Amino acid sequence: MSSRPRPEAETATTRSPVTLPGLATMKRDGQKIVMVTAYDYPGALAAEEAGVDLVLVGDSAAMTVLGYDGTVPVSVEEMLVLTKAVRRGLRTPLLVGDLPFGSYEVSDEQAVATAFRFVKEAGCEAVKLEGGGPTSVARATAIVNAGIPVMGHVGLTPQTATALGGFKAQGRTAAAAHKVAAEARALQDAGCFAIVFEAIPAQLAEEIMPSMEAVVIGIGAGPATDGQVLVFHDLLGMTSGGGARFVKRYAEIGTQVVAGLSAYTAEVRDGSYPAPEHCYGISDEELAEFRSGR
Ligand code: KIV
Repeated sequence: MSSRPRPEAETATTRSPVTLPGLATMKRDGQKIVMVTAYDYPGALAAEEAGVDLVLVGDSAAMTVLGYDGTVPVSVEEMLVLTKAVRRGLRTPLLVGDLPFGSYEVSDEQAVATAFRFVKEAGCEAVKLEGGGPTSVARATAIVNAGIPVMGHVGLTPQTATALGGFKAQGRTAAAAHKVAAEARALQDAGCFAIVFEAIPAQLAEEIMPSMEAVVIGIGAGPATDGQVLVFHDLLGMTSGGGARFVKRYAEIGTQVVAGLSAYTAEVRDGSYPAPEHCYGISDEELAEFRSGR
């Protein structure tokens, strides 16, 4: 199905905040939903200005902005600092906080307590957790029952990538495809308002979609989902290397950043920066008086 255009042109100043019923309406009307990750205030301002619908402060922050090897080490405290910064830059997109590995699996009580921190301290409207197995479904149920909207995440779930055999597409055998479909439906039955499908065959997503009442956001799941999400640094070309198959680079910011810093470095070293136009002045009289007071 091709996407329907939005009814009217909206700008950052006229747009109303995105709500859960609003997302459900977009799904019903076949309007594609745009989600992006962001990890700081300037990134949030850019997402607001671009008019995206949802912003996820993903635990991908562990790799993109904190320099860890994977998403496993990032802590709740680190995620909260980043999420609060994003909150300060957002007005209209729905803000989703990502519960980091180890912050929700232990018990329903732990999951609810962590989710509350993302809502009360960081101002999130919803939280996301990974996996569609019995533990994740139980935690999603508990958080939803506590009154916090939950976004699920199936397919490639980076927090448990080791158990999945690495960072690779999921659901590529009939049995594995059944597992992805069953997990998505279980999260939906748990009350998740949205579910991320990551790195699964496009045909599988298309097969599952008719049974999904929850909003489905794809990343490497083809065009059939209700919307798409990409990682900020990937889509803007701030990371080196090709990245996953599903990444499309819409800009080459990383190259521009290095070029700008290299030019600055060269000009400081050769003395051409700062030039007269970058300097403040003082009148001859004031300067003379300053000198006479030595
Ligand atoms: O952490 C993240 O950025 C994510 C998205 C890729 C969905 O989970």
